[in-house]
Amino acid sequence: MPTVTFVNEKKSVEVPAGANLRSEAIKAGVQLYPFPHNYLNCMGFGACLSCRVMVKKGLENCSSQGIYEKASFLNPLNPLGFFARLGNEKNMRLACQMQVNGDIEVQTQPAVNWHGENYWS
Ligand code: FES
Repeated sequence: MPTVTFVNEKKSVEVPAGANLRSEAIKAGVQLYPFPHNYLNCMGFGACLSCRVMVKKGLENCSSQGIYEKASFLNPLNPLGFFARLGNEKNMRLACQMQVNGDIEVQTQPAVNWHGENYWS
């Protein structure tokens, strides 16, 4: 069984292969959402972008980003998603859209890269 390590929380959980990361985080009591999204979120439909995680290790063990997940980050109605992912296009993922196929380490509630050194330079 794959192991998911939540770096900020210093917590590791074993999950079934192919498990949805958002569901497993909720089961493990890990808070994916910053306030106020812990009360108001899209419940896993990939629309609010508030379940963002940064994959620190094991990116190859995550399901690939689908067109819906990629499009969510480019939604003009939610420009925060675009800026949140700047410079981390491969390893910034939506927990609700990602399946775990092997051992990974993730950082919950990653900071937004407002300065975007990779973007503005
Ligand atoms: S829960 Fe809203 S995008 Fe994942």
